[in-house]
Amino acid sequence: MKESVERAINDQIQEEFQSAYVYLSMSARFEELNFKGAAKWMRMQWHEENTHALKFFDFLIRRGGCPNLQALTSPDVSFDTPLEAFEIALGREREVTSLIHELYELAVDKKDYSLRTLLHWFIDEQVEEEEAVEEIIQSIKLAGDSGEGLFLIDRELGQRAGEETEK
Ligand SMILES: [Fe+2]
Ligand SMILES: [Fe+2]
Repeated sequence: MKESVERAINDQIQEEFQSAYVYLSMSARFEELNFKGAAKWMRMQWHEENTHALKFFDFLIRRGGCPNLQALTSPDVSFDTPLEAFEIALGREREVTSLIHELYELAVDKKDYSLRTLLHWFIDEQVEEEEAVEEIIQSIKLAGDSGEGLFLIDRELGQRAGEETEK
């Protein structure tokens, strides 16, 4: 594997773990705000981001590369409302989408065909993740200041169960 490709995959491993870190911090903050459902959703998302990091980690090993784990930074999740939280999440996902696209461009440029194949999954996954977060933001906006609406959304978010064992 080309060195520049190996370096870029290692950077992406760091980004996926960083996303996981952001979601886990959000989970803690939601617990603090007593949104148990959203806290659980964020915890599931933490798990999902870890699986993304591991996909790249395993890919590197299979290709004879070496995962080189980098430092994570302390996430800033000082939000006070679910709307703010999911907007932070959407911003993070959009950032990761463009990183995945940049990585794809590198794979094309360096003629790394197997990395391109791996990235097809990630490109689709980013569409799904952005879509899911956008939908949640729309529901929260519809609920507006209604405490009852937010209560129901929180309950629905908490029903995101079982995925932890699926992946
Ligand atoms: Fe991810
Ligand atoms: Fe993500």
